[in-house]
Amino acid sequence: NPKPHFAIAIDGPAASGKSTVARRLAEKLGLIMINTGAMYRAIAWASIQHGIDASDTEGVIAMLDRIDLRCGVRDRGSIILVDGVDAGDALREDAVNSRVSAIAAIPEVRRLLVEKQRDYLELGSLVMEGRDIGSVVFPDTPYKLYVDASEEVRLARRSAEGLADVVSQRDKEDSSRKTSPLVVAEGATVIDSSEMTIEEVVDEAMSILKSKGL
Ligand code: DC
Repeated sequence: NPKPHFAIAIDGPAASGKSTVARRLAEKLGLIMINTGAMYRAIAWASIQHGIDASDTEGVIAMLDRIDLRCGVRDRGSIILVDGVDAGDALREDAVNSRVSAIAAIPEVRRLLVEKQRDYLELGSLVMEGRDIGSVVFPDTPYKLYVDASEEVRLARRSAEGLADVVSQRDKEDSSRKTSPLVVAEGATVIDSSEMTIEEVVDEAMSILKSKGL
């Protein structure tokens, strides 16, 4: 009997370092790495292509039935195709940053994407990063981390990446929405990465996961 697949859930605010940690952990452990933010970004991008205002909830919901959304894996990472197109770098543009939180607050959008996120587990054991992975997507996994950093550090990291991002505004919206807000999931261990190097965060994450039985 093959062992069932397991999920490592990594949540946290924008630019907390969770993506980098998730990627490193997946490499170290030989797991698939799934970036769920890119899935919400893909829906936000699609709404721009379709000329639908982010505040037009009904329009966005109607669009969900019209688009062909495929979530797959390429090179051990997630890839999202909207009507056959990988939007690539366009997913990180300002136009997407400024509307993705509104899109992610729509319950129908979340229901669709959470289902696709759970389906990923059929492909293999994985590291999944996002906002509600430990709280909603995989509440039963014992492997939950919440990577945090001070607002000051997060803003500095984002601008060091050369990206203008509405980080504080997004965090406010992501934390205050009704459906699946950003929270520290029950059973999650918090790592404050403000004063740590990436290597230190990865080491800390590994030792926490081992203490949880990994
Ligand atoms: O991780 P990111 O910054 O690329 O995520 C983009 C947006 O998607 C974020 O502002 C909130 C939303 N999101 C979410 O609501 N739930 C997730 N699991 C992942 C992202």
